[in-house]
Amino acid sequence: MNVPDSPVAAGLRARLADQLKRAGYLRSPAVEEAFLAVPRHLFVPAGFTPEEAYRDEVIPLIPGLATLSQPSIVVLMLEEAEVRRGMKVLEIGTASGYNAALLAELAGDPSLVYTIEIDPRLAAQARRNLEAAGYGEVNVRTGDGTRGWPDGAPYDRVVVTAEATDLSRELLGQLDPDGLLLTPFAIPGLPALLLRLRPKGAGAVGTFVGIPVAFVPLQGEYTGDSRRWEAKSRRVQRVIAEVEDEAWSEGVALSLDRRLALYLVAAAVAEKEAVPPDEQPREAWRRYIEAGEPELADVGVLALPLAECPNSGLVLRRRDYAFRLDLPRERNGGGGGESPRREVVR
Ligand SMILES: C[S@@+](CC[C@H](N)C(=O)[O-])C[C@H]1O[C@@H](n2cnc3c(N)ncnc32)[C@H](O)[C@@H]1O
Repeated sequence: MNVPDSPVAAGLRARLADQLKRAGYLRSPAVEEAFLAVPRHLFVPAGFTPEEAYRDEVIPLIPGLATLSQPSIVVLMLEEAEVRRGMKVLEIGTASGYNAALLAELAGDPSLVYTIEIDPRLAAQARRNLEAAGYGEVNVRTGDGTRGWPDGAPYDRVVVTAEATDLSRELLGQLDPDGLLLTPFAIPGLPALLLRLRPKGAGAVGTFVGIPVAFVPLQGEYTGDSRRWEAKSRRVQRVIAEVEDEAWSEGVALSLDRRLALYLVAAAVAEKEAVPPDEQPREAWRRYIEAGEPELADVGVLALPLAECPNSGLVLRRRDYAFRLDLPRERNGGGGGESPRREVVR
């Protein structure tokens, strides 16, 4: 049985908040207020003490599948999600219900928060936790969130708290035109980064933010086609291996930048079957660049075909991983067969 909130728990919470502020994770008064208001120790499994609840550590719920995320990551995501009073929010991955309570504080009304959890035992426990902590009006549902929760749509914010490798059109279609979707997003073989997506026209504009993050994987019906990714990944790894030792200078920077750019360029080239078997990838890349706008040689031209959106286009800027992603959204009737749009994000 969890203990109720108390001056001791509030003191531990304040100490952790200070630590997260000093480390640069907790930045805004709104997120700090929410963090200080929600009794995290009411969301940990039985057997964990309040001292343990207020350490900057991850708490396992179901090994490999569900965790109560580390407080620093929770607040980092909340800062990026920019939830304001009165906003309607969808969370995918309820687990303990802790983040849903924080979202309720930020939205100013628990009934504006919709949270969906694939594991029925966790969803039931989250309902109890939320009730005990005073957030019983949060809408909790057991189910697969990969295609969203249409009944509550449109949402001002969609926050995914498990690692996605793809996104369904239905989910993006449930986002308000001025809305924002935040998710840890991993290209297989590379570390996940936080991805912020905003709808734009028939697509969405995305930016990778922050540091690489580690999350449990998103499960469910729509998690992308892993076989397709695997096949692509093998071809891409081969291309990367071939160019790894060369002085590769056009359009790519170093380390993750370089790997990510190489990965995506190679994926694009492979996908478009622009590499005849006897042609060096370097030549293919040059040809690809020459066919596009010259300025793109500086930023890297990429196309990341997502499983449901084979013609989605992606442009990556060298410095901050900002990119433009043309994703056909459900309500616009899909993307048809155009080729990737090339557009530099400023
Ligand atoms: C890192 S935990 C989320 C932590 C949670 N936000 C909290 O505050 O405790 C990820 C959760 O996502 C859930 N999940 C994974 N795939 C899902 C899906 N398709 N739909 C809904 N929940 C999913 C997992 O069961 C797990 O509980």
